[in-house]
Amino acid sequence: MSEKLWDGRFTEGTDKLVERFTSSIDYDRKLYAYDIEGSIAHCTMLAKVGVLTDEERDTLIRGLEQVRGEIEAGEFRYTDSLEDIHMHIESRLAEVVGRVAQKLHTARSRNDQVALDIRMYLRAETRYVISALRSLRKALADLAEKQMGVILPGYTHTQRAQPVLLSHHLMAYYEMFTRDMARFEDCLKRINVMPLGSAALAGTTYPIDRHHTAELLDFPEVSANSMDSVADRDFAVEFMAGASLCMVHLSRISEEFILWSTSEFAFIEISDAFTTGSSIMPQKKNPDVCELVRGKTGRVLGDLMALLTLMKSLPMAYNRDMQEDKEPLFDAVDTLKMCVDVYARMLPHVRFRADVMEKATATGFLNATDMADYLVTKGMPFRQAHGVVGRAVSVALSQGKELHELSLEALRGFSDLISDDLFAFLTTEQMVNRRRSFGGTASENVGQAIAAAHKALEGE
Ligand code: ARG
Repeated sequence: MSEKLWDGRFTEGTDKLVERFTSSIDYDRKLYAYDIEGSIAHCTMLAKVGVLTDEERDTLIRGLEQVRGEIEAGEFRYTDSLEDIHMHIESRLAEVVGRVAQKLHTARSRNDQVALDIRMYLRAETRYVISALRSLRKALADLAEKQMGVILPGYTHTQRAQPVLLSHHLMAYYEMFTRDMARFEDCLKRINVMPLGSAALAGTTYPIDRHHTAELLDFPEVSANSMDSVADRDFAVEFMAGASLCMVHLSRISEEFILWSTSEFAFIEISDAFTTGSSIMPQKKNPDVCELVRGKTGRVLGDLMALLTLMKSLPMAYNRDMQEDKEPLFDAVDTLKMCVDVYARMLPHVRFRADVMEKATATGFLNATDMADYLVTKGMPFRQAHGVVGRAVSVALSQGKELHELSLEALRGFSDLISDDLFAFLTTEQMVNRRRSFGGTASENVGQAIAAAHKALEGE
């Protein structure tokens, strides 16, 4: 029988398959640094309130630091029989410092210990994601600035709609990622709450100072209810909901880049460093990075759903089910980080084919709305103008022409308000630059939006 830290009441050893089944060490070893930092803070606090002597504290801290060194040097031995990272560290500590190690777990349970570890882990990762999103937003704003002046068809229903600035299109994604970043910043406030000292569920009889522990670990807040502290994972759900939404945004830009890099569109070319070839078709250059980001989005949405489903029927307080929180959470964190990073890196290596985009704006009746607007400037009510232009579109279609390819005479047949100033009114640039309503695609507005973005990024 292997020696367990909890086997006092047991007379039989644990079945080997059960050891394997209940073990989480394969993945929760990721938490080792937070576990050790939390333990150092815990024993520092215990000494401050007189539960440990200063000498005991110093021995424990030295031992914990040694264990950390061993883990980091790759000299640490992991085994299923020790279940999780908390047990591994405590049991190695006992080998290193002897009997005093048995005092470390005073006024603490693995339930509040794991809650602390996950919060510390997620706090660090959320901060990373926030800075990665800042880089991505900067890459988008830089690109928008560089591509200023390029016009492409804007789409609704994947049908050509109205011409827009490429920079405006790119800045739409900037806005999405700005909101994503704000969501992570907000979520960080609720992650950043210190649960240690809640013990198993009811708090503890020892005269602990949880605020001191919080101070040592740089938490601005201490959790208010010991049962809630060990039973809740909503901070992780929130992170994963934010991650899901951010992945959906990345997936949408990926879908566009995939579409835009087809021969049919040919709006962009992604550089060799961010594409891959085919093992059979020599001509292929595939947008695999975009495809994988789109694919990995499904994983992160699944991770969120896994955690929500895991939590939905759990009675208070801690339940072992909650050990299953880690794999989806770690997966969502790692996937999101990688996708945000790869996008920030790839964006400057996307070549936008201004010539193809501009050519595409010439067909597909992108000027139909503006022709209606033209009639409105001549005094016709908009709904009537809409009908007039609709009829003109229908006739042009039947002749295989665009609106501006119809003769003035033919156009006047639809309304005598039309004169030859219509053609200048319908140039693509004019159409774009007339859309000066706040948030519209006019160069002036987009230029201001880009400048505001750069200013915001500098202040962050
Ligand atoms: N490995 C466990 C988890 O991740 C730690 C807490 C275990 N607590 C317990 N009472 N068995 O949730």
